[in-house]
Amino acid sequence: MRVLGIDTSCDDTSAGVSDGPRRVLSSAVHSQHDLHAAFQGVVPEIASRAHAERISLVVRRALAEADTPLEALDAVAVTVRPGLVGSLLVGVAFAKALAYARGLPLIGVHHIEAHAISARADHDDLEYPFVALVASGGHTALYACRGARDIVRLGQTHDDAAGECFDKVAVLLGLPQPGGPSVSKLATEGRPTAVAFPRYRAEGDAIAFSFSGLKTSVLYFLKGPAGRRDAPNRPDLAVTIPDVAASFERAAVENLIRPTLEAVAREGVADLVVGGGVAANRELRRLLAERAPGGVRVRFPRPALCADNGAMIAMRGAELLALGERSPLDVDVDPYAVD
Ligand code: KG4
Ligand code: ZN
Repeated sequence: MRVLGIDTSCDDTSAGVSDGPRRVLSSAVHSQHDLHAAFQGVVPEIASRAHAERISLVVRRALAEADTPLEALDAVAVTVRPGLVGSLLVGVAFAKALAYARGLPLIGVHHIEAHAISARADHDDLEYPFVALVASGGHTALYACRGARDIVRLGQTHDDAAGECFDKVAVLLGLPQPGGPSVSKLATEGRPTAVAFPRYRAEGDAIAFSFSGLKTSVLYFLKGPAGRRDAPNRPDLAVTIPDVAASFERAAVENLIRPTLEAVAREGVADLVVGGGVAANRELRRLLAERAPGGVRVRFPRPALCADNGAMIAMRGAELLALGERSPLDVDVDPYAVD
């Protein structure tokens, strides 16, 4: 079963081909980082224009790399929610046109549900039920994945997404975007216990995340006498900028881990899946493996499938296709969908 998946939900134009719900044949991603770099964030209008310019080429590349001509496709899957409205519309319009022209089924996919199942490509034995942590630049949420059509959100961030927090702290530290990889790289030279940044604790028994308090703490630490940016290596304090990066990263990772392990315990599952751009973080991988209780398997996708990609949309599309799901050709985008 060959499914083409398209994702243009944010700032990467991507397409991929899957052979069923757990096998990736290709993944083509055209990143827009260079276009948005000067703005320190994604500019929606620039993003949608760039998607429109690149989508044909990216789809062609995905089909060629999978050695799959258009005639061999069984369906076209596309992200319809959530995301930037103008960006989503480009992928959805392209997918509709292709599905109509080739007489193929169209399958609208929820972007975050696709992140939640993307680890399946690298773990043949991963089956429902499992808990999924999806942490990216736009989302940080936990899902109980009880079946292909029974994916329930358990909790999410009250404010910033984890990746967004890494990106903003990178700006504060004068590091390049995307902030996750650059903060993480500098952190390898610092001490994670040098600065006691606050950890978030949800009220009562709520499963929730928060990152804005941590971001503000880093800001005030850098502004304040204890760690001025213009005196980053004060011997009297012995706190360096790499120390700040490492301490921030440890706090951010612990903020992700606590509610995640709570969700795993409550759901009583043996598998924990992590997805989204932040899943590429090495400290998160290391600490989660160390702190997960015995008997819980922690599954990460390969780094290329952590960030936004069309291949995960194709896998999720294949799964829904097998269950008989189809979207009408007038399916609309839903930019703010959360569940
Ligand atoms: O999933 P993704 O590609 O796009 C969104 O849907 O947002 O995630 C991108 C986010 C960025 O905020 C980036 O800084 C973060 O993932 N990220 C990381 C790492 N690699 C990417 N955060 C922490 N550590 C990393 N190694
Ligand atoms: Zn994403």
